[in-house]
Amino acid sequence: MHFLQNISLKSFNTFAIDVKAKHFVSVHSIDDLISIYKLDTYPDKFILGGGSNMLLTKDIEALVIHLNLKGISVKSLLNNQVLVECLAGENWHEFVLWTLDQDFGGLENLSLIPGNVGTSPIQNIGAYGVELKDSFHSCTALNLETLELETFSNKECAFDYRNSIFKQHAKGKYIIVSVVFKLTTNNHNLNTNYGAIKTELEKMSVRQPSIHDISKAVIAIRERKLPNPKEIGNSGSFFKNPIIKRAQLEELQVNFPDIPHYVISNEEIKVPAGWLIEQAGFKGKTFGNYGVHKKQALVLVNYGGAKGDDILKLSQLIQETVSRIFNIHLEAEVNII
Ligand code: EPU
Repeated sequence: MHFLQNISLKSFNTFAIDVKAKHFVSVHSIDDLISIYKLDTYPDKFILGGGSNMLLTKDIEALVIHLNLKGISVKSLLNNQVLVECLAGENWHEFVLWTLDQDFGGLENLSLIPGNVGTSPIQNIGAYGVELKDSFHSCTALNLETLELETFSNKECAFDYRNSIFKQHAKGKYIIVSVVFKLTTNNHNLNTNYGAIKTELEKMSVRQPSIHDISKAVIAIRERKLPNPKEIGNSGSFFKNPIIKRAQLEELQVNFPDIPHYVISNEEIKVPAGWLIEQAGFKGKTFGNYGVHKKQALVLVNYGGAKGDDILKLSQLIQETVSRIFNIHLEAEVNII
């Protein structure tokens, strides 16, 4: 293992923020990971996966451990079901493309999401009517206290909207080293209910879509709406879509009759944060080398050279403005470091 000093993290976070890691090591095996935790040299450690859900606002004094665990294997094949294990350091989208190459269904709606496989369960990534939890079988995680590997079933992960046990009471206590997915080999459960997918498939003149068509449709929609982090630094949705009470929606409808909303339960309504931010006047606004994306107001962008603090301050200004106009608190989805 090579321990490096003063490494720029610019190419390790999709926001492309140029902060430094005082100490850095790339880890290729679970044994190496465990041996690092047995060392006394670096008491503080910081785990870095795909760097796609974080805003770095300062240099990192702790040892940055870049999880570079790679490998995909088919564990079992039974009737219409296959279990596939993928190590944490695999790139999410490349893994999705691999499953499609094998004609395995389940992850097609989650095409082109940035990040790595190991971090996907933490926030239960989701898009276009599907969430990770729908195909998640289990994961293996290193318990940082005992340095033993533990398995978590789907139920034990307590998945919720952009949430799991790893963001709640297990936060900071485990490192996910691999994830097992339960996929289909035929008779796939296609999910084409999301409006944008329906429209895209119609545009493609596809009547009976395959998992490959759905993936292509999702990729086309995402490429049109969301900035490619390789070209413009960003972390996808910066905020979660807020959930409000029905009574508050009714009050808001007096002044904003067109407010888009999705009913979650009798009492709970989800409102798109992108709409709130657009109404607050921020969509497409630039502040020098950073700003709010032109086509999706939920995404904050670094046009090159922006500081994490600049983007953090912009996010706070958006929160304050949205709160003043709508009395709704926007919670950051991205981890602020
Ligand atoms: N909208 C606007 N203005 C905008 C953006 C959105 O008015 O600038 C409104 C529109 O009414 C639109 C509605 O918001 O119909 C929903 O927009 P969209 O379908 O783009 O989805 P979203 O709610 O903004 C969520 C996820 C995305 C995911 C899409 C598609 C969250 C926080 N975000 O966005 O996830 O790709 O749905 O399923 O739940 C991510 O987490 O990084 C991410 C990109």
